Amino acid sequence: MFKQIKMKKITIAIDGFSSCGKSTMAKRLAAQLGYVYVDTGAMYRAVTLYALQQGFIDNDAFDKQALVEALPQVLVSFTSDGGVLLNNTRVDELIRGVQVSAWVSEVSSIKEVRQQMVQLQRGMGQNKGVVMDGRDIGTVVFPDAELKVFVTADAKVRAQRRYDEWQAKGVEVNFEEVLKNVQERDYLDQHRAESPLVQAADAVVLDNSFMSREEQQDWLMQQVNNVCKE
Ligand code: DC
Repeated sequence: MFKQIKMKKITIAIDGFSSCGKSTMAKRLAAQLGYVYVDTGAMYRAVTLYALQQGFIDNDAFDKQALVEALPQVLVSFTSDGGVLLNNTRVDELIRGVQVSAWVSEVSSIKEVRQQMVQLQRGMGQNKGVVMDGRDIGTVVFPDAELKVFVTADAKVRAQRRYDEWQAKGVEVNFEEVLKNVQERDYLDQHRAESPLVQAADAVVLDNSFMSREEQQDWLMQQVNNVCKE
């Protein structure tokens, strides 16, 4: 009989700036470890889509109170293959749209929205064996996570990555505008009143400005191994 070596399951929190490639690396890490992956940004995006669909956001007016009152009717969940469900309808594509992207910072700054999402996220990670990415996972959602990674990269490098993505899709964009947008989002994420983006004191920092995807995965696995053998 082979002796089965069982590695303990841990909670992995991956936080950091937008356009750092957090989701891609978190998804890959979860697949490598056989863990559940939770993209919390997608959850805030789904709530934003709901607000748009219900007409709570209309042109430049946002009826926040109406959204707060409707929150008990907003059900956000994931399919086993990582799809995002809003009230049982798959919305993976819709939550990446321009309107959702334009309003999600505003929606994710509402206290009641955050409370509901954090409660859901804690439920999704209660059995450990989870990789969750976002802005407040290591500080608010799972302050006791065994591994916390804070991802950062030079703003110009992130803007270039975004610019290249748009170009690849055939969308003409101006680099300076993309950079400005990245810097604005950084500012909003770091300065909002509710759960701003801050590095947890016990997080390990990953600056991936000049790292390949493979180098990042190796670095992450190294961190997991360090924690699991402690
Ligand atoms: O990671 P993303 O770009 O899909 O996130 C969308 C928005 O949601 C972004 O403005 C930051 C916000 N967010 C948040 O406030 N807290 C999280 N845990 C995840 C995302």
